[in-house]
Amino acid sequence: MRQALFIPMTEAASVPSSPAAALIDGKAFAATLRQRLAEQVAVLRTEHGIMPGLAVVLVGEDPASQVYVRNKGRQTLECGMNSFEHKLDAGTSEADLLGLIGRLNSDPQVHGILVQLPLPAHMDANKVINAIDPTKDVDGFHILNVGLLGTGQKAMVPCTPLGCLMLLRDRLGKLEGLSAVVVGRSNIVGKPMAQLLLGDGCTVTIAHSRTQDLASVVRQADIVVVAVGRPEMVRGEWIKPGATVIDVGINRVERDGQNKLVGDVHFDSAAAVAGALTPVPGGVGPMTIACLLANTLTACCRNHGLPEAGLAA
Ligand code: GUN
Repeated sequence: MRQALFIPMTEAASVPSSPAAALIDGKAFAATLRQRLAEQVAVLRTEHGIMPGLAVVLVGEDPASQVYVRNKGRQTLECGMNSFEHKLDAGTSEADLLGLIGRLNSDPQVHGILVQLPLPAHMDANKVINAIDPTKDVDGFHILNVGLLGTGQKAMVPCTPLGCLMLLRDRLGKLEGLSAVVVGRSNIVGKPMAQLLLGDGCTVTIAHSRTQDLASVVRQADIVVVAVGRPEMVRGEWIKPGATVIDVGINRVERDGQNKLVGDVHFDSAAAVAGALTPVPGGVGPMTIACLLANTLTACCRNHGLPEAGLAA
């Protein structure tokens, strides 16, 4: 299933110090995507008097989640959309959270709802996610959207895999017939990523931390998407020469007494072998919020019975 909001980019820039791989510049791609979305939002407002709105719910004070939520709010406003932030105490009851979701479901100003994960241990995340109106489920985590994606129907697509798919299509054009290995089997990235690649005609393998001889599985792939949450696990020696490597990992490590962000792929060794590679930071990360905004605009258009793409045309 091809997404309406696919935006072709110019040639990827080369990595100056790496002998082989081209750098896939997710930061630039995401900036262009946000700019196009802002233009479409402006048209929606001026021609239809509609202002898309995204509600983000954060329960508790997890520092990483607070940073993500702040960035989401800022970029939502920059795009010209309404941003509604709901910060709840870590001790909030599940019933109170479900009550808030119910109110957001019926609020006509809210087109997208995101409940930041992880939730505190006393809450049932599946129950909470499945309480969100599936048409407002801009994360694509509701069981209905999972089923729609898995059966190739029009769904809300999870943001990080959607961002990876956009980068892959931009880099490679048609993905049909290519061999893809997804390393990681999470509901947020691994499983939906595999569905999207399958939808584009790839031959897909889902590998994970328990896969035997992971290196030789990865070595078969024209496309490698890694989302395992293990710093620098995938090495250059595992990669087929010329393969396109998408690194979803964001890991904070201590290196030479300094705090550093690294991916799930060992960048220097992979860059010597791969055809193209996403850096960390500046690769997949910025695509996630850009795709969240794209999903919010999509949800808003569907809600109002308007075409999902070409608003500006
Ligand atoms: N926590 C980490 N990634 C995500 C995401 O994509 N969506 C939500 N809701 N929570 C997250």
